[in-house]
Parts: sequence; structure tokens; C-alpha cells
Amino acid sequence: MKISIIGSGAMGSLFGGNLALAGEDVVLYDVYKEHVDAVNTQGLSIEDAASGEVTIVHPLASSDPESVANSDVLIIFVKSTTTESVAAQFESFTGAHTIVLTLQNGLGNDAILCKYFGAQRTAIGVTSQGATFFGPGKIRHAGKGPTYITMASGDEAKLHDLAAAFSRAGFETHVSAEVTGLVWSKLIVNVGINALTALLNVNNGQLLEYEDIRQVMADLVNEALVVAAKKGIHLIYDDPLAQVYEVARKTASNSSSMLQDFRKNRQTEIDFMNGAIVNEAQKLGIAAPVNETVTRLVRTLDMLHTQKGTT
Ligand code: PAF
Repeated sequence: MKISIIGSGAMGSLFGGNLALAGEDVVLYDVYKEHVDAVNTQGLSIEDAASGEVTIVHPLASSDPESVANSDVLIIFVKSTTTESVAAQFESFTGAHTIVLTLQNGLGNDAILCKYFGAQRTAIGVTSQGATFFGPGKIRHAGKGPTYITMASGDEAKLHDLAAAFSRAGFETHVSAEVTGLVWSKLIVNVGINALTALLNVNNGQLLEYEDIRQVMADLVNEALVVAAKKGIHLIYDDPLAQVYEVARKTASNSSSMLQDFRKNRQTEIDFMNGAIVNEAQKLGIAAPVNETVTRLVRTLDMLHTQKGTT
């Protein structure tokens, strides 16, 4: 099967690298030339966090969009802020049989893919795998967990070969109609943690040290829960707020992805996280004032940062 990864950062390289090891025909597409060159000259080094074992694999890496032509599957791993532009860019390199799968964080990527590829070719998934990017050609497989995938609409059977390929590559994968609930469950964690860490310039664990911030986390999460309930979404946690606190505790020393974006003057995924809650709330005719305020603050800082930065 030809599987192309669009956005070969830590997670994209993790999936692509292990799929190549399992014998699939993989292209790692990325605009980051140093990474592409390192993979092509020295191979991709994947360190297993648990065992410390390092595996070198040699998938084809490329910055040429044409390299992904005739793929059976495109896996989209770019930041949500660039989903729209890559969908527009890659549309002409897909065929009628190509499935385009998003395994990105946040809410709304599948809708963008459906716009360009149609619901019959769009798949959405959620993964608990974790990876860290060390530098060109080097990643660490930081955490393992199941992956769930489903079609945006249509024939789930189309995904069985892909799920089998993922499983052969060491990623436990299920084709499941429950993906929406899983995506929302992951989203709620990001809604409670990411923007606050970015605004306060603190790591995840520090959020828990301040009673005022624990309360703001609760307000953000509770607004999201009202929206999810109104939409009839079934979350996987009995007590989602407790889960958000627990993730912040377990990842205490992490700088969240949004804080990392701030630090690199890169546009954040706020519109796919707290901003997405505001959007969904508006569609339902309800208010989400705390998420709205936080979204406006992050968006403004995004503008200030990206004026300074390169993106
Ligand atoms: O986006 C992130 O950084 C992560 O999803 C999480 C769980 C908040 C941990 O840092």
C-alpha cells in the first residue's frame, strides 16, 4: 500500500517510519528541508522511550508534493492551522481511490478535508501514540496507546486494510464509529489545558498549583461539556474535569503544544480547540463566555507573535 504522510514532524515520522519498517511503501512529505535531507541520507532514527532501543529506518522523504501522487492513503499530520492550505495543495495529487485520514488534534480538520476530498474519501481518527521531535532525522516514540479510525461517511470496510497495516506497524488500531466521542474527549483535555499554559507561560503541572486557575480550567471544561451534551456526544470519561486535572498532573513537566507554539512565534491551534467550542456553542445558540475570552486573548497574542516570527 502506498501511504504518504503529509506533515512529517514527530507524529508523522513515527507513523511513517514504523509503517515503512512493516513493509509499506511510505513517503514522508514535509517542507522542513533539513529533516527531509537527514532522513534520506542517514535514515530516520526512532528511539523507544521505554526500552531506549534505537531503530533506523529508510522511508523516502520529500518536499516535492508530486512524490505523494497515486497514494492509497494520505495521512494528514500538519498543524491544524495549515490543514486548509495542504488540502488545497494536495487535492490534485489524489485519485478516486485515495483515502485522506486526519489524525490531528482539535476539532474541525475532518470538515476541511471533506470540503476538498468529499466525505467518501475522508477518514478521521484519534491516537494515543506520542512522539517527540529531537531534530532533523531523529524522533522518540514517547508513549503508546490505541488508535481509532472511521470514515467521515460511507464504507468502513475501506479502512480495514489500513487498520491492518497500522497494526502490523505496531500501532493497535480499531475501526470504530465511536471516533467522534474520542475526538471530543481528547479535545476537552486540550480545552482545559493548552490555552491557559500558553497565556500564563507555565508547564501543565503548574496550572494545578493555583486555585484561581483550577477554577478557570473548570469553567472552560464545563462550557465544553454543555456543548458536547447538547450535541449528543458520548465522552469516554465519567468525570471529564477530573480527567483534565489528571492529564495536567501526569504531564506536569510538559510544555503544552500551544505554549511551544507561542515560544516559537508560530500560529497556535486555538481555533481548533477553545475557538471550536465557541463556534459549536454559537451554532447551538448558547454562550461559552470563558472559552470566548480565552480564544480572543490567544488570537491577539498569536497576531503579535506571528508578526515577530516567521510563520
Ligand atoms: O497538546 C498538548 O500539549 C497535549 O495534548 C497535552 C495533553 C495537553 C499535554 O501537553
